[in-house]
Amino acid sequence: MGDFDAAFPEYAATSRLDDLRATEYSYLDEGGHVYLDYTGAGLPARSQLRAHATRVGSGAFGNPHSENPTSSASTRLVEEARSAILAFFNASPKDYAVIFTPNATGACHLVAQSYPWRHGKRLVLTADNHNSVNGIREYATGHGARVRYVTLNRDLRVSELDLNAALGRGHGTRPGLLAYPAQSNFSGARHPLAWVERAQSAGYDVLLDVAAYVPTSRLDLREVQPEFAAVSWYKVFGYPTGVGCLLVRRDAMSRLRRPWFSGGTIWGVSVQGGWHRLLPNESAFEDGTLSFLSIPDVMTGIEWVSSIGVEMIGQRVQILTSWTLRCLAGLKHSNGRPMTLLYGPGDEADRGGTIAFNFLDPTGKLVDERAVSRDAAAAGISLRTGCFCNPGAGEWAFGLSRKAVGGTFVRRQLMRRSFLHVDMTTVDDYLRVLGLPTGGAVRISLGLASTLADVESFLDFAERTYRDRLPDLNGLAPRLNC
Ligand SMILES: Cc1ncc(COP(=O)(O)O)c(C=O)c1O
Repeated sequence: MGDFDAAFPEYAATSRLDDLRATEYSYLDEGGHVYLDYTGAGLPARSQLRAHATRVGSGAFGNPHSENPTSSASTRLVEEARSAILAFFNASPKDYAVIFTPNATGACHLVAQSYPWRHGKRLVLTADNHNSVNGIREYATGHGARVRYVTLNRDLRVSELDLNAALGRGHGTRPGLLAYPAQSNFSGARHPLAWVERAQSAGYDVLLDVAAYVPTSRLDLREVQPEFAAVSWYKVFGYPTGVGCLLVRRDAMSRLRRPWFSGGTIWGVSVQGGWHRLLPNESAFEDGTLSFLSIPDVMTGIEWVSSIGVEMIGQRVQILTSWTLRCLAGLKHSNGRPMTLLYGPGDEADRGGTIAFNFLDPTGKLVDERAVSRDAAAAGISLRTGCFCNPGAGEWAFGLSRKAVGGTFVRRQLMRRSFLHVDMTTVDDYLRVLGLPTGGAVRISLGLASTLADVESFLDFAERTYRDRLPDLNGLAPRLNC
């Protein structure tokens, strides 16, 4: 603690967050929780939940698709929420539209299915991407576009040279789409926002996945102007779940082509005539009835984090992350061997509050991540294990070659055949084929309500459970995915 105070005197300036933890987030300590999964989900303040109850309890809100009073009341709040979101990202309503989706995945899916893919177009993806972005490749290749992945360095960052090489190979006035995360959900690495303009100057559109970035950083859409940005609001302030959005530049929106229509999206349609015309605005992308009782809660959430200040949240998370990284790197068995193997950026700059690593036993072997998951759960600690839906970062973290994971034609055929064999049906079989010593990493992540005490609890747990000990591997459940 003394060391911490000396290393980070500026932490004191974030003490308001300790007060909020004791009041608005007191359910964590009351329930004995050490919550270290903010990249999985943010947490709601009690006042957000009260605001929801007060609003829905004191008004009447109907389906927004008509003109009646209860419908208009819902429409007004939904439109206010759109404006609040644009203001939160400092975006001009002339330049950007907000399309409500169930989550960031829904936002990526809209781009995937509506982007004008065709033969000769390119989809450039960083190998560090969430599966909800990786999945875009299925639409792209389905329409004859080529997919190119930009590889990662040892610290799970992308070299500018590799990015430029990947972009350089596009051709035509609009060569295609670059999609990358502003912050990795695996390693916490922040990839430069300057790539947006770099790609645009090469003619590309850009989908910026800001799901893991915006809970602790401000995104200013007057400074960087990606064509598309994907957000999940529960990651920013915990509540509501089920509401995300696609921020879309209006010029790019007009180039999207929806492959279908549905309730809520059309200006007109004829059954006998067989024609339909979509609405000329963001509603064309919002299928069915919006989550109209929850969308106004996004305004409450935005007011909440704005009243604290995203900068203060970011500062606290950055300090706690730096301290955690130093402590984890310093954990040693009494034989002098390290207790952890960290993945991702070795430095403390340009990174968010997500840390991926494995514990090492006293002989230097990786501790099975399922044992960590079980032991942490027993200690009341919420963390994540596996590859966190980011297989690319996982493949690079574990040093898997392209060949090993079926990246060549022959190998792919072999892998397919192997999986038809009766002995090769489980995820554990797959991991054995790859020769992996463990099935994934351990991830801890910090956020708005994190305190130094959370970090200390986790470090105590780590020392108590793994220092000088071989892990107990009895009774570990089979892995269900990888
Ligand atoms: C960087 C990133 N992108 C996309 C997603 C997908 O978010 P959701 O599951 O809310 O759609 C996540 C979720 O963890 C994420 O961290």
